[in-house]
Amino acid sequence: MLARRVEKTGQSSTMQIAARAFALKEQGIDIINFNIGEPDFPTPEYIKKAAIRAINDNQTKYTTNSGIYNLRKAICEKLLHENHVQYHPEEILVTNGAKQAVYNAVLASVDDGDEVIIPAPYWPSFPEMVRIACGKPVFIEGGLDNGFKISARQLEKAITSKTKAFSLNNPCNPTGAVYSRQELSILADILIRNKVNIISDEIYEKLVFDDFKYTCIASISEKVKNNTIIVNGASKAFAMTGWRLGYAAGPAEWIKAMDMIQSHSTSAASTISQFATLTALQEPQKIVMEMVAEFQKRRDYMVKRLKRIKGINCSVPQGAFYLFPEISFFFGKSYNGFKINNSVNFVECLLEEAKTAMVPGSGFGMEGYVRISYANSMDNLEKGMDNIENVLSKLA
Ligand SMILES: Cc1ncc(COP(=O)(O)O)c(C=O)c1O
Repeated sequence: MLARRVEKTGQSSTMQIAARAFALKEQGIDIINFNIGEPDFPTPEYIKKAAIRAINDNQTKYTTNSGIYNLRKAICEKLLHENHVQYHPEEILVTNGAKQAVYNAVLASVDDGDEVIIPAPYWPSFPEMVRIACGKPVFIEGGLDNGFKISARQLEKAITSKTKAFSLNNPCNPTGAVYSRQELSILADILIRNKVNIISDEIYEKLVFDDFKYTCIASISEKVKNNTIIVNGASKAFAMTGWRLGYAAGPAEWIKAMDMIQSHSTSAASTISQFATLTALQEPQKIVMEMVAEFQKRRDYMVKRLKRIKGINCSVPQGAFYLFPEISFFFGKSYNGFKINNSVNFVECLLEEAKTAMVPGSGFGMEGYVRISYANSMDNLEKGMDNIENVLSKLA
């Protein structure tokens, strides 16, 4: 009864663990969530007020499918001033979350059998979207030694006559890795030379640490810009995950095709969320800076705690709110009926025994690792790390 594409598509591993953690919580068990993919801060008051104002002003009807003009204009201004890349409103599509922007970009550009290169570890939805579009994900692994970034040589080797697109996630979920301008220039050069389109998911753009200077890949050159869809949105920067507001910027033809696809599925993003995001983009970003400073503090704390545990190998990422430590040292060990042979066993054991939820690396295409989110209060980070340290010390 179901379509073949369903068989080819996997469920998100982040969702599976979240479901188990949720079930334990429903039983009254206090679970510490290190598996969260969203800022723990509330949406700032001035953004909430803008939404309430929109409702009171009766801005509650459909908008044009591509999004209200003033929002698209504000997105252009943001891209120009922050990312040094010039777009016009007809080159912008407002979407129902950044996820839909990626999905539209894939559906509008990937044909049956087309290959899409995806650096691993990856956000699980990238390969699944490619599969839904009947394309073929091709993975390149960026190892811990290289801060989980891929090299020019790896990229060059992965490109074939069927390569249609390259999926970049910068900063990266699940590793927090961020590519520098120089690294991006080298990769972009190879992609442009081989006529490979770029889908650049920049949803964690604002969350960079240590005064890292963020580069949007489309700002490298006009040629790169002409072959790139930038994906971004309000979710992570403004703690607005539930508002479902993302956007894509790119060549008019590609954006028009994505607009058409969206018009036959969800139509425009929520009108209220569009007005709220307009305010978010136009107001000073002091609150965002405060959130970033807090994330950096938590990152430092978590890295320090993880490095203290024998057998855990952890890099210091410069972006997002995730750590991706190596945990394969514990494979072959057991505790209280749990035998750990892979990252799923590791996560299951720590969920039940340390009451701490994280996500297995295998779900992100890399076995031997787990993703830890530090989008949680300092109290919970401390408590979770105490629990983890305690259980891991008993594994034998
Ligand atoms: C890399 C990446 N892209 C996109 C999204 C989805 O963003 P949105 O909630 O705006 O759809 C996420 C959410 O976790 C993500 O990690």
